[in-house]
Amino acid sequence: MKRTYLIYILILTAFYSCSYVNEDDLTEDIMVDDVTYEDNIKTIIDSNCISCHSNPPTNGAPMALTTYDNVRDAVENRNLIGRISATDASVMPAGGQRLPQSIIDLVIQWEAEGLIEN
Ligand code: HEC
Repeated sequence: MKRTYLIYILILTAFYSCSYVNEDDLTEDIMVDDVTYEDNIKTIIDSNCISCHSNPPTNGAPMALTTYDNVRDAVENRNLIGRISATDASVMPAGGQRLPQSIIDLVIQWEAEGLIEN
C-alpha cells in the first residue's frame, strides 16, 4: 500500500514538473540584456556559417565571418540580417535550415544595440 502511494506521487511529480515545458519556452524566450559578439553572436556564426565563411572562405562564399570585424562588416554592408531572415532560397545558411527565429532575433537585437564587441 505504501509503495503504491509512492509510485503514484512519483508519477504525479513527473507529470507536473513537465507540464509547463514546451518547445516555445525553450526556443523563443532567449532574453539577453546586452547582446555582444563575444558572448552571443560568435557562437551562432561558428556553428552555422564558418563551414563556408571560413578564412579563406569555401564553397563559393564571398567572404569570411571569422572575426568581429568580418561579421560587423557583413551586417553593415552585405545584408547579413536580411539573408538570415529570408524566407526564400537566398536564406543563409545556404542550402540549410533557416535559423530558429529566436536566434535571428538575437542578431537583430545585436544590431539595434550597436554591434557591441564584448
Ligand atoms: C554551405 C555554405 C554556406 C553556409 C553554411 C553559409 N553561407 Fe553565406 N554564402 C554562401 C555562398 C555560396 C554565398 C554567395 C552566394 C549568395 O550570395 O547566395 C553566400 C553569401 C552570403 C552573404 C552575402 C554576401 C554578399 O556580399 O552578397 C551573406 C551576408 C552570408 N552569406 C551570410 C551567411 C551567414 C550569416 C551564415 C550563417 C548563418 C552563412 N552565410 C552560411 C555559402 C554559405
